[in-house]
Amino acid sequence: MYAYYLLMPLLLLIASKLSFVPNLGWISAYILIGGANSITFSWMSGHVNLFKIHKEYFWTYAFILLLTSLLIPVGYELFGLYGLPVFFGVLAVTALMGIESGVAAAITLSTIAAVIGNGNFELFAMYAIGSIGAIFLTKRFDKRFDFSKAALWDSLISVAMIFTMSFGFSPFALQLKSLFLAGINPFVSMILILGVLPYIEYVSRIYSNMGLIELGNLGHPLVKQLLVKAPGTYFHSVMLSNMCESAAQRIGANYVLARIGPYFHDIGKIKRPEFFAENQGDVNPHDSISPMMNYLVVASHVKYGEELSRASRLPLLVEDMIKEHHGTRMVSFFYQKALSENLKVGPDDFRYPGPKPRTKEAGIAMLADSCEAAVRSLKSPSLSKIQNMVEDVVNKIYNERQLDDSSLTLRDIDQIVEEFSKVLFAMHKKRIEYPKTTEEVEKVIKVAKM
Ligand SMILES: [Fe+2]
Ligand SMILES: [Fe+2]
Repeated sequence: MYAYYLLMPLLLLIASKLSFVPNLGWISAYILIGGANSITFSWMSGHVNLFKIHKEYFWTYAFILLLTSLLIPVGYELFGLYGLPVFFGVLAVTALMGIESGVAAAITLSTIAAVIGNGNFELFAMYAIGSIGAIFLTKRFDKRFDFSKAALWDSLISVAMIFTMSFGFSPFALQLKSLFLAGINPFVSMILILGVLPYIEYVSRIYSNMGLIELGNLGHPLVKQLLVKAPGTYFHSVMLSNMCESAAQRIGANYVLARIGPYFHDIGKIKRPEFFAENQGDVNPHDSISPMMNYLVVASHVKYGEELSRASRLPLLVEDMIKEHHGTRMVSFFYQKALSENLKVGPDDFRYPGPKPRTKEAGIAMLADSCEAAVRSLKSPSLSKIQNMVEDVVNKIYNERQLDDSSLTLRDIDQIVEEFSKVLFAMHKKRIEYPKTTEEVEKVIKVAKM
């Protein structure tokens, strides 16, 4: 990590010096870029949970910063000081890692712009305020239109800033050229990002919400296989997706991830679908093997799901949902069965491999998974029955301390219970019966004609 603080500014500096512009000396430029990079990076790695979970976030962030500082000299050579593609890096980092990380990238990259402009503070202000303002005003980056919206905000803010900062100081023709370049620059960066993003996503397995939405159209080969081989699990996954999306939306978590992840959470069940209750007919294959074997088969859907997700290069956060949706919980049914058969076993012999959920979205998926299965077992479910059941299941998981690493607060959990109950009630409402006899059908037709 220390190497990052020392080496990264040097690499950024070397990359930006490629433009051979008259700029600050090596040492002062190194101190400026190094200072901005160190402060923003330490702040970000302390605040953004995902940097602590996956090292890929660190490498991808560093790569995008380096790529942008290689593009900056190109922008300078072609268009001058107002054509530096700072927004390219800011938008890429924001789309993949969120707004906090985008702000960190904006400050480091705007410092590089200022260094190229020979310590020009106005240049730093224009790039930093323009790009940070744009990402805060856009907030969500779920669609291509959001990217265009962000570029438009950046363009408007930059033009307004040049207009106010340089009016009266420089010749009119020069101003017009700067205004035009600053206005067009964010759009060029945006187009570049749309072209490059799928490659970064594929290599890093860090997905923007736009990439996640493309994955979640139910046409993914793994989801199709699930439908054919384990239809019960498929419908359970679709149900979970709806529950998780509403809950995430309510507590302000990433609702796109919460919607797409559940489609894949039980993907490992395509191997032995008949061993899972939702796909079983009259024959239960569990009856013919020992409790320990049963546990191994059931728990293996997590490991196999992880293997499939790695082979298909699913997003890291979706893979986390696969690994974490049972946490380190116990498969208590087979444990009890083993005890009743007087086998010498302990509770730890019947646990899922884990880890416990490490993000809010994975925590929601764990809760939804157990609630959905529990409510399915209810006969004639009413709203209060569903609510009681959901509360019981959630309390049990909370008391098992499975949610300790998920950053879900008690307030979040209360709201999740409310949302789950609403969605589950809506989905279990008794359907209006279709008329069965000819007389009933005729009665309906008569009423319709009135
Ligand atoms: Fe599962
Ligand atoms: Fe499940």
